[in-house]
Amino acid sequence: MNPTPETPGATADADAEALRAASFERQRRLRQEPRFPGGPAADPAGSHHERRIRSFQPRRSRVTTGQEDALQRLWPKWGLDIDGLRVLDLPDLFDGLPVVLEIGFGMGEATAQMAADDPDTGILAVDVHTPGQGNLLGLADRAGLSNVRVANGDAIILLREMLEPAALDGLRVFFPDPWPKKRHHKRRLIQAEFLDLVAQRLKPGAVVHCATDWEPYAEQMLEVLTAHPLFENTRADGGYAPRPAFRPLTRFEGQGLDKGHVVHDVLFTRNTDR
Ligand SMILES: C[S@@+](CC[C@H](N)C(=O)[O-])C[C@H]1O[C@@H](n2cnc3c(N)ncnc32)[C@H](O)[C@@H]1O
Repeated sequence: MNPTPETPGATADADAEALRAASFERQRRLRQEPRFPGGPAADPAGSHHERRIRSFQPRRSRVTTGQEDALQRLWPKWGLDIDGLRVLDLPDLFDGLPVVLEIGFGMGEATAQMAADDPDTGILAVDVHTPGQGNLLGLADRAGLSNVRVANGDAIILLREMLEPAALDGLRVFFPDPWPKKRHHKRRLIQAEFLDLVAQRLKPGAVVHCATDWEPYAEQMLEVLTAHPLFENTRADGGYAPRPAFRPLTRFEGQGLDKGHVVHDVLFTRNTDR
């Protein structure tokens, strides 16, 4: 009788196979080889950046055939690895369009929608999530968009090492990981040190647009942006903004709304002081 998943032999075989696959995956990551030939690198910035507290959790999620196809076909043209080794020429990359950075696009539906709605703005969309990178490339391709570039890796490295001062015309951070546990608050993206860096990469007048369905994080966003000398609330009352019509509902937002969460948008301008 052939072993079935219920029999001990089959379980041992499956365990051994899983161990072999995990070991192979570890070796591949150490060699920094892409999971898909010509696609995003497994660890673009290399291990010298690994010690920093990170705002994301590396995930090993399944990549669908469609996403894999998009990564292989489109990454060489529209994708870029955040390796921390070169400074990007954004006017060249976006044919002179003003460029907004979106950190954490997830599956990219809202990104593709905003890019289609506003073809005169370039979107530099960053995430570490491979299925999402494939998904966004596929969406952009099917919609014939030429104003989206997909960056793979940690947005902090991109901001710190790969962008010129005053390179960006805006920043979007929609539904960043809320890190609800107190011991994880240090992982939250929107905090004073992050804003110091962002302020140096934004042009005067550029807008920082954040949204979250996690009330304590919304309070933190409002608090740190209000306290920062280089940012000014677009709301005269100093509070949250109503969701602008140009921001589509995002996937994580939908999940938050299903749980009865309240969503807050926060829009601040980079002021003209250097
Ligand atoms: C909660 S999801 C939200 C996704 C999407 N904006 C939405 O609303 O559906 C947050 C995303 O941010 C990404 N992320 C968090 N920190 C990041 C960083 N430092 N650099 C790049 N991506 C990051 C995560 O990988 C994740 O996909």
